[in-house]
Amino acid sequence: MAALDGDLGGRVALVTGGGSGIGAAVARRLAAEGARVVVADIVGDAAATVAGEIGGRALALDVGDAAAWDEAVGGILAGEGGLDLAHLNAGVSTGEADPTVLTEAQYRRVMGANLDGVVYGTRAVAGAMKASGGGAIVATASLAGIIAFPPDPIYTLTKHAVVGFVRSSALALSGYGITINCLCPAVVDTPLIGEARDRLREMGLPLISPSDIADALVTVVRGGGSGEAWTCLPNRPPEPWTFAAPDIWAPAPEP
Ligand SMILES: NC(=O)c1ccc[n+]([C@@H]2O[C@H](COP(=O)([O-])OP(=O)(O)OC[C@H]3O[C@@H](n4cnc5c(N)ncnc54)[C@H](O)[C@@H]3O)[C@@H](O)[C@H]2O)c1
Repeated sequence: MAALDGDLGGRVALVTGGGSGIGAAVARRLAAEGARVVVADIVGDAAATVAGEIGGRALALDVGDAAAWDEAVGGILAGEGGLDLAHLNAGVSTGEADPTVLTEAQYRRVMGANLDGVVYGTRAVAGAMKASGGGAIVATASLAGIIAFPPDPIYTLTKHAVVGFVRSSALALSGYGITINCLCPAVVDTPLIGEARDRLREMGLPLISPSDIADALVTVVRGGGSGEAWTCLPNRPPEPWTFAAPDIWAPAPEP
């Protein structure tokens, strides 16, 4: 299967960070499309609640744990009989704007969830998809993967890395019939934004509904493209971002 361009009915989908916010909305949406959804989250109870609601299966998984990924994917192949779609969505912020006071614990936590989770996740799920002829991977990056985001430079670092990883992995994965893309949402109304929520609302910043991100994911998967970073902005349809690149063939400037 080269791309999930049609019916999602009966497909097997894994959603990480599926116990809350965007992941929960995606899990609900995929289940509504008829997919069999494995809801993974580091908070097992949260995964269980969402999985129970949609008739899916819950999986307690720390996406930053490489060994746990092998077990998780092995369990999906054994239990669900395959894996067609993976939404590598789990993520956290540091909540720290100033790199000089960043703690080791803050740094490792965000790198584990946002970066290791996408790299280990891609390696593990692509391994399974490769064996069955293809599939689709969508990571949740952020608009902070494209723009500078001074409130959280380390979060921004991880999201830029996810965008670069996705854009650069597409070629290798295309050989296995696997597409890989990422979503780059602006501010989404989930627990992640925490105390900033009310301030953002007061500033008049429109918050995006998690269900809009779920719609975007389905659009991206059905589109069948790969290596794309899709912006998800308030009141606008999602669209692949066009990156400007320096022209390395340009002649040297006149002295
Ligand atoms: N909310 C926003 O404004 C926004 C904007 C752009 C991108 N994002 C990204 O969207 C993704 C989902 O965030 P959200 O807004 O839904 O937040 P959320 O806090 O509602 O959900 C994140 C989920 O990930 C889980 N999680 C955290 N670390 C994990 C780990 N190591 N292993 C497995 N699960 C883990 C949490 O338990 C939680 O259930 C994140 O990658 C985030 O960076 C969010």
